[in-house]
Amino acid sequence: MHKLYHELAYLWPMLSPPEDYEPEAIAIQSVIDRFLKSDPQGKPLLAEMGAGGGHTLSHLTESFDCTAVDIADPMLVNCSLVCPDAVTMNGDMRTVDLGRLMDIVLIHDAVDYMQTPEDARAAINNAARQLKPGGLLIVAPTYTTESFEDDQSISDEHQDKQIKVAFTSKVIRVTDNRNQFLMQMVFDITEDGNTASYTDEHRCGLFGEFEWLGWMREAGLKVHLVDEIEELDDMPWHGFVGIK
Ligand SMILES: C[S@@+](CC[C@H](N)C(=O)[O-])C[C@H]1O[C@@H](n2cnc3c(N)ncnc32)[C@H](O)[C@@H]1O
Repeated sequence: MHKLYHELAYLWPMLSPPEDYEPEAIAIQSVIDRFLKSDPQGKPLLAEMGAGGGHTLSHLTESFDCTAVDIADPMLVNCSLVCPDAVTMNGDMRTVDLGRLMDIVLIHDAVDYMQTPEDARAAINNAARQLKPGGLLIVAPTYTTESFEDDQSISDEHQDKQIKVAFTSKVIRVTDNRNQFLMQMVFDITEDGNTASYTDEHRCGLFGEFEWLGWMREAGLKVHLVDEIEELDDMPWHGFVGIK
């Protein structure tokens, strides 16, 4: 079980605040404006698989009727605080039944947790089957085989009135599996003068652009690789879009 999404989930708004997700939300909105072909009655229905703390969704709830799916209840609690209008649903993106067809299904950073081609295909197939005709599946992993850089780390310090968190995260390739990488994190949390240290390791999938596009095509979608978003100037955003 990932500590970051369970016992340390209360830190999520501090470590990865909603404003950090605004450029990506602008990219997603632009992709939707460009490719959506369904005919929504009222606000289009958008489900995010692995919506976490709802930080991406918080920039989309004004334009879309949002459903947040996540496998970790503490993250859904965070999500409800920043996206009070979104429907929250505990479920696994590979199997969850949304109960109605969507105009858009979004799976971005959470798709990293699909560790094998079978997992990734299951998530894509499950999303595709729950789209309206003309609906969009947007898949945007943090890394592809082409973009991954081994042994990269970041360190940050975050502080509010009660708590200080020194956070380090490192990504490394798994030596005996070309389709996986590890994200290794260290948290030093200081509260009332006492510091507690936690480590957390997440095993994630790493697949090529060709594989992602192939799986989306197999799911019956007409696919596009999007890597230029005019609205974002210099900020790169890479994602895969499939139209049902
Ligand atoms: C990096 S966080 C997502 C953050 C989110 N984009 C936000 O705006 O706050 C990744 C999320 O994926 C969720 N997750 C991992 N595996 C999952 C699965 N199989 N099905 C659904 N959610 C999953 C985790 O619980 C976690 O909340």
